[in-house]
Amino acid sequence: MIAPVGRGQNRWISRHYRGFSIADKYANATASIDFAVRLAGSGSDAHSSTMSDPKDMREDPESFFAAPDWYDRSINWPARLKREIPVLIDILGPPGEGGILDAGCGTGRQACALAQQGYRVVGADLSPEMLEVAARVRSETNTDVRFVTTPYASLADAVGTGFDGLFCLANALAAAGSRDAVAGAIANFARCLRVGGRIYTQILNFAPMKEKVPCVRGPRIATVDGQEYISVRQFHFGSDAVQVTNVTMWKDDTWNQRAHCGMLYPASLDELSEWCAGAGLRIDETWGGYDRSAFDPTSSADLILVATRTK
Ligand SMILES: C[S@@+](CC[C@H](N)C(=O)[O-])C[C@H]1O[C@@H](n2cnc3c(N)ncnc32)[C@H](O)[C@@H]1O
Repeated sequence: MIAPVGRGQNRWISRHYRGFSIADKYANATASIDFAVRLAGSGSDAHSSTMSDPKDMREDPESFFAAPDWYDRSINWPARLKREIPVLIDILGPPGEGGILDAGCGTGRQACALAQQGYRVVGADLSPEMLEVAARVRSETNTDVRFVTTPYASLADAVGTGFDGLFCLANALAAAGSRDAVAGAIANFARCLRVGGRIYTQILNFAPMKEKVPCVRGPRIATVDGQEYISVRQFHFGSDAVQVTNVTMWKDDTWNQRAHCGMLYPASLDELSEWCAGAGLRIDETWGGYDRSAFDPTSSADLILVATRTK
């Protein structure tokens, strides 16, 4: 079933943050509005004079994160899980008492895959729509993952502390949307871990992407219920945030397309290192991809951090 999606930024904000405290709603909605204002005003200090008017791109900003079925149609899940799960198991170690937290778990596929390997897993996400699909994945995989609807800002209160490990994949950290929100998320991630617990985060390496206009990634091809979907993502950089638009195309009697937007804060390694240090996290590895290649700021596709809580 295709999840319903809202139209317009205001409607998106109210749908997306339904169920949170007024303070959470205010903080998150303020970040969204700040971003929209910054983006709209970014013409003069934006990276490229060839950038199209960002207002056009926001005209119908259906949220990526409120459209989980479309999110899943933009991802080849069997290939992703094959790439991600062995690395996560290696980094997080064998299943332990504390369990594993998937922060920004989205549709919960990695959380359920790890539960199938014997881990006690909690998946947390801001989006109730994402977690609706995650609950479906949980029954399909016959697992017992606990899914909790919460923003990163109140993660430890919502899911508890003492986790052996935490992972945050596929830009879910950058999706916190603003510099302060990403820094705050790292502090909250650390709070959820026991001392000695490990954290694995993966975002894109945004620095080289910013140099490319237009910056388009893909195509990604996924097959869901026998239907093939082709998706591309365009990244539109403002002065300190990036809007990602995912366009998914498919053919039945005719060609069709659906587009969804999200906003990301393009954190750099220097920023992440500073925030990890402040949160008592020692960085053990910085990789440029799941092949564990050394991170190269000029050419790596990903920015992956492996860190340990030391205090
Ligand atoms: C691109 S999806 C990635 C989902 C999943 N980690 C994956 O690998 O497919 C980003 C997720 O982060 C969640 N998210 C964004 N900001 C958040 C916040 N402040 N607190 C909790 N979750 C958040 C979104 O709702 C979305 O499900």
